[in-house]
Parts: sequence; C-alpha cells; structure tokens
Amino acid sequence: MRMNIVKPLTSLLVFIVFFTSLSGTGAAASLDDGEYEINFKAMHLTEEKESQAQQTVVNPARLEVTNGSITAFITLTGSQIRVENSSGEFVAAEVVAEDGDKKTYKVSVANIDDPVIVEIHVAQAGIDVQYRIVFEQSTLKKLAEGTSSSSTGGDASSGEKVTSPETGDSFSSTMAGLGAMLVLLLAATAVIQWRKKRFAENL
Ligand code: HEM
Repeated sequence: MRMNIVKPLTSLLVFIVFFTSLSGTGAAASLDDGEYEINFKAMHLTEEKESQAQQTVVNPARLEVTNGSITAFITLTGSQIRVENSSGEFVAAEVVAEDGDKKTYKVSVANIDDPVIVEIHVAQAGIDVQYRIVFEQSTLKKLAEGTSSSSTGGDASSGEKVTSPETGDSFSSTMAGLGAMLVLLLAATAVIQWRKKRFAENL
C-alpha cells in the first residue's frame, strides 16, 4: 500500500510552527539554582534614562537562586533605600553589610527581567524620590552551582559567563528542532516521490 505522508507531515509542521510562535511570547527569565553576579543600573522611574541615583550604584550585584527564588545583594552608597513590595508599599530594605558610605541590601527579586522600584530620601533636597534598579542581563555570570550559605554581599570574583535562559526556551528549541527535522523529511519525501513518478513514467 502506498501512503502519501506529505499531507500529515505538512499539518504537523504547521502545528509545530504555530505552537513555537505562541511559546515565544511573554517568556520570563528563570535562573537555575546557584550563585551569580550581575551588573545593574539606576534608571529613571518613568523615562528611559539614567537616574540621578546612578552615582550611588556599586557593581556588581550578587544573586542567590534557591528553588528558583532569587535573592539579590545590591550595594549602593548614600542613605537607606526602601523597596516596593508586592502590595505597592515601600519598606526599608534589609542591610546585610556596611562599609563606609556603602550599604549592601538583601532584596527578594521575583524575576531579573523586572525592575526593583526604589524610594530614597534626598536630604539635600528634602524630597522622597523613586527610581528603578534594572539588571543588565548581558553581564550575568554564574559563580557557583547550588546554593551558598553566605548571606552578605561578599566580593564577587570572575566566573563563567552565562546567558539567561528564558522560560519556554527549551520548549521552543525542541519544537524548532522538530520543525527543522520535519522540513528535511518533507523535502526528502517529495524528492523520493518525484523520482518514483519519473521512474514510472520512463517504464
Ligand atoms: C544637592 C543634591 C541634590 C539635589 C538638590 C537634588 C534635587 C533633586 C530634584 C529637585 C529632583 C526632582 C524631583 C521632582 O521632580 O519631584 C531630583 C530627583 C531625583 N534625585 Fe536628586 N538631588 C540631589 C541629590 C541626589 C542624590 C545624591 C541622589 C541619589 C540617590 C538623588 C536621586 C534622585 C532621584 C532618584 C530623582 C528622581 C529622578 C531620577 O531618577 O533622576 N538626588 N533631585
């Protein structure tokens, strides 16, 4: 019995392309458990420009990832910061180390794609101002696998550079691989069928 498999293969290919394109949207960065360092920037709360608070940034920050939960150790100069919690309230960030004018804060971060919203009192101006701490994902480096027992900012030495994997990334690449295989299979099937036809015509 001669089976035409081109049609079902084409349908499967359309299905894969559709789901691969769906999975690419809205993906959030997730990190394997371990210890990382990453640079960050202080950005204006609403505008795409550096904040005045950029002058207080001490890079890099250190990240500890345990069971997917991210704790960031962020060092800044100047006065105590408050960070926005999930209810939208600003609460004093926990200081885990102090060195002269520098303070290292321990901050829970849901996702390194998202900014940490910070509020600070500027005594010179007598105002409370807000800005965003934004992680520069291209600078992410893995320092150690698993979890670390230390709870201070510590000094971050150089480590292996990693790209931040995106949720759904492995799914997308598996689907993309399957799609590529199917395209090859379809092409091979088409060539075989064409040659069979030519052969039959020549008989
Ligand atoms: C002589 C010292 C300073 C003066 C007179 C001053 C004054 C001001 C003023 C007038 C604003 C605009 C506020 C508004 O539009 O409501 C502002 C914004 C701001 N200032 Fe300062 N400032 C000073 C130093 C600093 C320092 C040391 C920091 C460090 C954290 C800082 C962080 C900010 C931030 C985060 C904003 C919000 C806009 C942005 O992100 O750039 N300022 N400042």
